[in-house]
Amino acid sequence: MLNPVHILLTENIHPVAKERLESEGFVVDLLTHSPGEDELLKLLPNYQVLGLRSKTEISEKILKANPHLLCIGAFCIGTNQVNLKTAKSLGVPVFNAPHSNTRSVAELVISEMIALCRQLCDRNTKAHLGEWVKSADGSREIRGKTLGIIGYGHIGSQLSVLAENLGLRVVFYDIVKKLPLGNAQAMRSLSELLEASDFISLHVPETPQTMNMIAASQLKQMKKGSFLINASRGTVVAIEDLVLFLKSKHIAGCAIDVFPYEPSSNKEKFETPLQGLPNVILTPHVGGSTEEAQYAIGLEVAESFRRFIRIGSSSGAVNFPNVDLPSRPSVSRLLNVHKNEPGVLGEINGLISKAGANIQAQYLATDDKIGYLIVDIEVNDGHGLAQEIQKLSRSIKTRVVLAVPPEP
Ligand code: NAI
Repeated sequence: MLNPVHILLTENIHPVAKERLESEGFVVDLLTHSPGEDELLKLLPNYQVLGLRSKTEISEKILKANPHLLCIGAFCIGTNQVNLKTAKSLGVPVFNAPHSNTRSVAELVISEMIALCRQLCDRNTKAHLGEWVKSADGSREIRGKTLGIIGYGHIGSQLSVLAENLGLRVVFYDIVKKLPLGNAQAMRSLSELLEASDFISLHVPETPQTMNMIAASQLKQMKKGSFLINASRGTVVAIEDLVLFLKSKHIAGCAIDVFPYEPSSNKEKFETPLQGLPNVILTPHVGGSTEEAQYAIGLEVAESFRRFIRIGSSSGAVNFPNVDLPSRPSVSRLLNVHKNEPGVLGEINGLISKAGANIQAQYLATDDKIGYLIVDIEVNDGHGLAQEIQKLSRSIKTRVVLAVPPEP
């Protein structure tokens, strides 16, 4: 293992990640582009940790050629670009940053509520074209209106707080029982929420249950003249049905940031049946795309790297058993990933006992395929023991952290 740990960050990841990791003593190289397979195959033998964003594909071939990788970080939300199954089978956790852009999405929704109530986008377009449309007709304040939030998770609950501060009444619907923040009120059913709200904002994940969860029958239950906002996932709203309800003016406007089909790059043409309709705000999936979010993502994944490399904590990994570990400056920590099969723990403990090492603490997390075992032992150098454990046929990866440092 290279010492200090060498980290390759690709795709112009926010410089704060490099700064933070270098301040930890790691060697960090930054690429501004997304390397292809051949380039990665050449580069990765020189690095133990890889950071990427959405464009860098990490195939089975790349992973199998580099089983020495300690961990991978997706400095974004999605992790489909990495072959997670192969990474797991090699004992490589993959981290991401699912909540660093929560506030950005909530702020966009707030701005859209005001923009919809004042037909801001249409008026702006007309003013640019030389049309002077000065009228109060149909323009309203958002104060005192009811916002219905579907999905009261990270974004939904953040939006709830911001909206109340602007004088809205907030109601929400979630399939899981959630603590209402401030004066927000949980609704017993989706129908109850649809009937009560002047604005509906969607903040649910993409699941079989949320597929087309807002279609004709739900749009019909919404108040006449109400607004729909979707910055969650494109499959949640049946777009063709929404078009009909906008044309009949039952729905007074909408703001849509996510679509059932989205262009794969800025060069591809974007098409939706919502184009050209009045009081319809269309944005190219930018709800979470702010400089602040990029900065926060840089810090979040850099911190996951630090905690995994220095302490062994895998919390936040999307393909790996999650363990949050304490630091212990007085021990050597053995970190072993193994196939989750009967008898493995007995074999490992047998080797530890044979080595005469006193165990101070032991942690284990498993999933259906692998186990992640952490053993804190009182020895000055556990490398020999780690090598013995790694020789076991069902061991996948074993390393030692000497003198697990205190948290900064
Ligand atoms: P979260 O996981 O914190 O919250 C989702 C909530 O939805 C949970 O409370 C869950 O219990 C609830 N839920 C799940 N199924 C439901 C159902 N059938 N009915 C009602 N509630 C249901 O997720 P987070 O971080 O708040 O993200 C929400 C959505 O926003 C996700 O789809 C995410 O992909 C999307 N997103 C969009 C961004 C953009 O740029 N437009 C940026 C970030 C996230």
